[in-house]
Amino acid sequence: MNSLRRLTASAVVLSTLFSTPCCAQYPDMVLGSYLDPATGANFTTWTAKPDSSGSGGVTFGVVLPADAAETDATEYIGYLSCASTSADRTGWCGIAHGGHMIQGLLLVAWPHKGQVLTSFRWATDYFMPGVYQGNSTITQISSSVNDTGYELIYRCENCFAWEDGEGYLGSMKSSSGELGFGYAQAADGPEDAGCPAGITLQYHTQGYSTWVGAVDGLTAPDYSALADGYRRSLCRVRGVKPQV
Ligand code: HEM
Repeated sequence: MNSLRRLTASAVVLSTLFSTPCCAQYPDMVLGSYLDPATGANFTTWTAKPDSSGSGGVTFGVVLPADAAETDATEYIGYLSCASTSADRTGWCGIAHGGHMIQGLLLVAWPHKGQVLTSFRWATDYFMPGVYQGNSTITQISSSVNDTGYELIYRCENCFAWEDGEGYLGSMKSSSGELGFGYAQAADGPEDAGCPAGITLQYHTQGYSTWVGAVDGLTAPDYSALADGYRRSLCRVRGVKPQV
């Protein structure tokens, strides 16, 4: 029964992604790259432009393990850079693994007192997502916050397969050659911002989109070294908060 559910979930993710009429209802993401000067990691990135009032904007980047095209990756190193509307309206931004808000792993990030906090979330409908009950883990590599935005580099383990704690299983497979992602962004930050498990989010007023990335362009031959180097560099990162 579980394997049937798993198959169904994967099929739903893929069929919905690929049957979406190409990009008609979603704003285009602009393909680019970002070289992290601290580590030399070279991220393939997708950028959402600011909204119609000129506020917001998100860049998301990914580096995958070297063999991800042959062997399904279970983790990635991510780069998230999100613009704030102002020093007071700092907002939140998030990534949907699988490309859909519903029944895919959601990662939400927001600035709080000079740090970037995160929370894994899970949605069964287009409402405020609850706390994710699965075993994904995020490790912050570096982060920065200023009046115009916030940035996070992180390692996301067990982030390409998900479960909701009630038997629903889903995944995306890097060996298929493509991975689906989505983003969302809101102008106002979460309520209860200092408590990742207790946040309340407003709707993503500044935009959302979904897209598919080719795995070939995302792999890094030195992924293991990057991940190990990142682990060591964690000792130098100050103020990393417990993640939910
Ligand atoms: C209060 C919280 C939230 C509400 C009420 C909400 C509501 C919605 C609604 C109504 C849509 C469909 C919009 C349309 O088709 O025109 C949508 C789409 C979407 N949402 Fe959310 N959302 C919330 C939080 C989030 C979060 C935290 C993420 C990501 C971390 C996210 C990612 C997405 C994405 C990628 C889409 C487009 C793809 C899809 O339709 O599944 N949302 N959301």
